[in-house]
Amino acid sequence: MAEPAPGLQLQGLTQIFGPAPQAHLAAVMAGLGRDELRARHGHTLALRDIHLQLQGGAVSVVMGLSGSGKSTLLRHLNRLIEPTAGRVLCGEVDVTALDAPALRAFRQRSMAMVFQRFALLPHRTVLHNVAYALELQGVATAQREARARHWLARVGLTGHEQDWPATLSGGMQQRVGLARALAADAPVLLMDEAFSALDPLHRVDMQDLLLDLQRELRKTVVFITHDLDEALRLADHLVILRDGAVVQQGSATHIVLHPADEQVRRFVRDVNRGRVLRCAALVRPGAAVAGPTLVAGLPIAEAARCMAAAGVQQANVCDASGAHLGTLALAVVIEQMAA
Ligand SMILES: Nc1ncnc2c1ncn2[C@@H]1O[C@H](COP(=O)(O)OP(=O)(O)OP(=O)(O)O)[C@@H](O)[C@H]1O
Ligand SMILES: [Mg+2]
Repeated sequence: MAEPAPGLQLQGLTQIFGPAPQAHLAAVMAGLGRDELRARHGHTLALRDIHLQLQGGAVSVVMGLSGSGKSTLLRHLNRLIEPTAGRVLCGEVDVTALDAPALRAFRQRSMAMVFQRFALLPHRTVLHNVAYALELQGVATAQREARARHWLARVGLTGHEQDWPATLSGGMQQRVGLARALAADAPVLLMDEAFSALDPLHRVDMQDLLLDLQRELRKTVVFITHDLDEALRLADHLVILRDGAVVQQGSATHIVLHPADEQVRRFVRDVNRGRVLRCAALVRPGAAVAGPTLVAGLPIAEAARCMAAAGVQQANVCDASGAHLGTLALAVVIEQMAA
């Protein structure tokens, strides 16, 4: 991809479901709560005044409990749902202002979606499922099949081009779903609980595959999940929704170290801090010491192992290019892992 992937902006996005959403907008903006809106007026407040900036080329993960508004938020990005209020921008494009033909072209060119339940076409082979979006775009047969084969190879499905979707395992079907989304060559990838139907091992495999592809493709990925481990593994930027509102956003490290409130604290309490926190979060400025040098992105559990193996209490931390950033004390690592 030549151009950098566009960022996404959500500006004051509000969604009220029900027969007369506009009639209740002012009351909601003035503070009418979700429960009250439902009890008194029979409407559902799915999203309330969401402001988000999702960086281009990064993986943003939106997480929250069931009913918190995750899918509703995602469907606004390609305008499968019209907002009650607010705007969505993709780069310079005001998605909420596009007319019907422009919206159709935008969806084909700019955004691809991966669904939880794969949604493959049962009467088309794997190859033709992956090539289908290109067929709709009018790409010639030889070219679209070559591209479909390329992406099937990238997701590890060479040899399965002529299979029928129903003959594949869930994990393989989701690889087809991913290949189909990638073949569309859209800079933005929307994934709603894309790995949630898979067993734990296949789920981790798919997370690895996505991270691996992302290092090269640098798409703008918006990934929805209710699974904290998955969120922490994938997220460059993590957004926590509750009752249709953003309660906290930031890096996984930031949220684990500084939860915004008691509920978020309880939520992240049981995470494996040794795996989530990286040396970068605990490095202190200071001259180089005698001891191993660790890269800033190394999880602190690995750092503890290195220091223990070397029989030292301190290590140096460097950035990806090898420049010295400071030092890391084993005592600080242990304190954080036990916190
Ligand atoms: N088309 C709709 N009509 C009416 N209410 C809706 C509609 N879609 C969603 N809702 C309601 O909006 C709220 C948010 O739903 P949403 O599907 O976005 O939640 P979610 O976070 O994706 O949940 P889950 O984890 O279960 O998928 C819920 O109360 C839901 O019942
Ligand atoms: Mg959902």
